[in-house]
Amino acid sequence: MSDSASISPTGHYTGLVWVRHGLSHPALATTTGHLLFWGFKPVVLAAQWAGVPAIDSFLLTRHRLIDLRLDEAIRSGRVGQVIEIASGLSARGWRFNQRYGEALSYIEADLPGMAQRKREALARMGGPQPGHRVVDIDALADGGPQSLDAVAASLDRDRGLALITEGLVNYFSEADVRSMWQRFSSLMRQFPEACYWSDIALSDDMGGRVAPFVSVLSAFVRGRVHLHFRAPTDAEAALRECGFGSARAIDPGEFAGALGDIPGGVSRRIRVIEATTAPVPVASASTTTGGESDVHNSN
Ligand SMILES: C[S@@+](CC[C@H](N)C(=O)[O-])C[C@H]1O[C@@H](n2cnc3c(N)ncnc32)[C@H](O)[C@@H]1O
Repeated sequence: MSDSASISPTGHYTGLVWVRHGLSHPALATTTGHLLFWGFKPVVLAAQWAGVPAIDSFLLTRHRLIDLRLDEAIRSGRVGQVIEIASGLSARGWRFNQRYGEALSYIEADLPGMAQRKREALARMGGPQPGHRVVDIDALADGGPQSLDAVAASLDRDRGLALITEGLVNYFSEADVRSMWQRFSSLMRQFPEACYWSDIALSDDMGGRVAPFVSVLSAFVRGRVHLHFRAPTDAEAALRECGFGSARAIDPGEFAGALGDIPGGVSRRIRVIEATTAPVPVASASTTTGGESDVHNSN
């Protein structure tokens, strides 16, 4: 198994957060998730006091913004199939399958242990339903049965594709992230339209709190947390170097009016990458939501 398996406990933690905030199904909450959530509560509160971003606001902002952008792309017909890599215990695949049924092909992919947990949870929820499946993947694999290319082999080359990673890139080294992004862009070029969404934490957005942020998260995953890029333009340039034609690191404040009520307010400490292989600029908030920017606060 990949060395990155030490990241998996965070998937139990976020899985419980999605349940607690009504974005998931109770079957996706695990005992490990409860133990981590309550065990780390004092650390999370102390870290918040020390200036680390409020965790729920941070997580909900990234989750809802990816939902929003993906939903808009499906509705406009640009996306008909999704591979969510490192989906963990997130309910996005289940929710989008409930919303679009077989009209959308949704593949969730994770390391084998986590993927098996997801399959068991979905079975308890009466699924998976047609159009939805869970497969094993190693996002770091360059070839073989657990590689992205193997997972994508069965996809329809005439329909638009979305790739998603959430809660993954900041746990990988910059070299691993760049290799993964190169694999993504070369796969995406095989489709008429394709878009990649991912959250990313940037050091300039941490407002001078980089060290406490990195040390709290590193303790949690028993490994290193990487803030590879300082500014959004640095992340965007890296994406273009990895083969994307157009890339933005979206400030969630741009979509604040469309993200709904987030306890603690929309977080400005996290961004969502939106990158396509087409050499055209991706849509901005002003063309899709009315461009509200009434951010409640800056967690
Ligand atoms: C922070 S969790 C995020 C889970 C989910 N995306 C969410 O936001 O709730 C990180 C996930 O990455 C998965 N993961 C870690 N290394 C991976 C790899 N090499 N390939 C695929 N998934 C990986 C873990 O198993 C875990 O489910």
